[in-house]
Amino acid sequence: MAITKRTFDVVVVGAGGAGMRAALTLSHAGLKVAVLSKVFPTRSHTVAAQGGIAASLGNVNEDNWLWHMYDTVKGSDYLGDQDAIEYMCRAAPEVVYELEHFGMPFDRLDSGKIYQRPFGGHMQDYGKNPVPRACAAADRTGHALLHTLYQQNVKANTNFFVEWMALDLIRDQDGDVQGVVAMEIETSEVMILQARATLFATGGAGRIFSASTNAYINTGDGLGMAARAGIPLEDMEFYQFHPTGVHGAGVLITEGVRGEGGYLVNKDGERFMPRYAPTAKDLASRDVVSRAMATEIKEGRGCGPHGDHVLLKLDHLGDEVIRHRLPGIRDIALKFAHVDPSKAPIPVVPTAHYMMGGIPTNYHGQVVAPQGTGPDVVVQGFYAVGECACVSVHGANRLGCNSLLDLIVFGRSAARQIIEDLKANPNHKPLPADAAERPLSRLARLEEQKNGERVADVGDAMRKVMQKHCGVFRFPDLLAEGVAQIREVAERVKTTEIKDKSKVFNIARVEALELDNLIEVAQATMTAAEARKESRGAHAREDFPDRDDKNWLKHSLYFSEDRRLDYKPVRLKPLTVDTFPLKARVY
Ligand code: FUM
Repeated sequence: MAITKRTFDVVVVGAGGAGMRAALTLSHAGLKVAVLSKVFPTRSHTVAAQGGIAASLGNVNEDNWLWHMYDTVKGSDYLGDQDAIEYMCRAAPEVVYELEHFGMPFDRLDSGKIYQRPFGGHMQDYGKNPVPRACAAADRTGHALLHTLYQQNVKANTNFFVEWMALDLIRDQDGDVQGVVAMEIETSEVMILQARATLFATGGAGRIFSASTNAYINTGDGLGMAARAGIPLEDMEFYQFHPTGVHGAGVLITEGVRGEGGYLVNKDGERFMPRYAPTAKDLASRDVVSRAMATEIKEGRGCGPHGDHVLLKLDHLGDEVIRHRLPGIRDIALKFAHVDPSKAPIPVVPTAHYMMGGIPTNYHGQVVAPQGTGPDVVVQGFYAVGECACVSVHGANRLGCNSLLDLIVFGRSAARQIIEDLKANPNHKPLPADAAERPLSRLARLEEQKNGERVADVGDAMRKVMQKHCGVFRFPDLLAEGVAQIREVAERVKTTEIKDKSKVFNIARVEALELDNLIEVAQATMTAAEARKESRGAHAREDFPDRDDKNWLKHSLYFSEDRRLDYKPVRLKPLTVDTFPLKARVY
């Protein structure tokens, strides 16, 4: 079958904050850039980011990047790589000012400077007091950021392929990456996009869980493609549960609510966080707050007829502050929780939110993979940034507002690296003869499958297993059963069927292809969680309640082909400053 081929200097897969920030620098450098997106670019999931982007601007109280670095290392429960964390926290003020100059409409202080609010785990003077570090555009910071970057990319003549889904990486016999095979969602047209550099910015995979703050498009596509191409996935056991998803709906209620002075209460009306985190209280790190909430619920102090949630109280902030600083939250509370937050508290539960693991990279966005027993090697032509990548700046637990920062810092650094690499690599290599074989056979299987199960049913089975067996607290028997059950689901995925093809819009085909990616992420997450015999950050095991630095201060690597796990050391040495030594983590 003849397939259309188009050739670019760079193919960027994903049009969220990371992809668009990278594309902008690449287009400005005069490179021919294609950005593929399953949805219209400004509908990418970055649009849903609410509370802010972290940077030590010090506009409200004194701040500096070293304090930000310390908080991020501590927040990561010491699993973050300190070279990458230094790089990110140092660059933060500069990339925020760049966004400001691109036209991003930040809120303002009376002084005219960018408005900043406190966020969980962001402290002054190496952990002493909360500091306002989240640079915010009301509670719609991601929306403002994404629209700004889209407009700049349009001006820079970036080529957008809207409603195109990347199906698989093209990796040649040398292991080099030469682009992707993609499908236009409306027509099913398959095309090879050949490139000298391929950058994945495909976002997260929250849809492996039943209750998630993530959009339906967050299906781990980059991870699935990388795993099928033989790239290991790093630190997949660490999945963040955001403390405040709307009970029953999963929609995010920004931590910015607590940054503005909101707090959590149990069924007795007790503000319980000071019992768990005496200094930071409701602004402790997310893993700490989510565990505290789960404990309140487990010990019978949950709210509502089933005692299955707690309440987020913000009525004392007053209607004016809520309307001005938290207008989106007001809308969400009215629509999804049916409460006016200036009058009544919002029912909330910890909800799957963010994947700390991903495709292993260095802080230049280059994908690195182990080579036998020797040191990691750079996979030529392949880069990853944003939530799909593991740099690793978030380690075992990400601090709020460091995600938008990660997108922008590493989107820019990967673009700069690509520009350098392409100078040394001016020509496209010949494509392998079988470049499109894998995705075409996946599509052919879907066409030919008879008597298979519905994609939605198998997807639901996967989500139920993940939700029950791999949650805020993890139990040995549930994890062991979870590994077996997720393998069974993976076998079922191989024989799913698109029922009555004549009647469905192509979304059914897309959902089947997405499930191939989700199941890779789900298996990696469950397998790595079962294997890590300690508690660290978001990974809290009932049978191993303590952090174990002697045996487990290391990154996991999951290999899809044989479901094998390997480990590699944490990079504890920063770029220019001294290592932050390991300490007990208290807030
Ligand atoms: O709570 C929030 O606004 C979410 C921010 C984040 O995940 O960084």
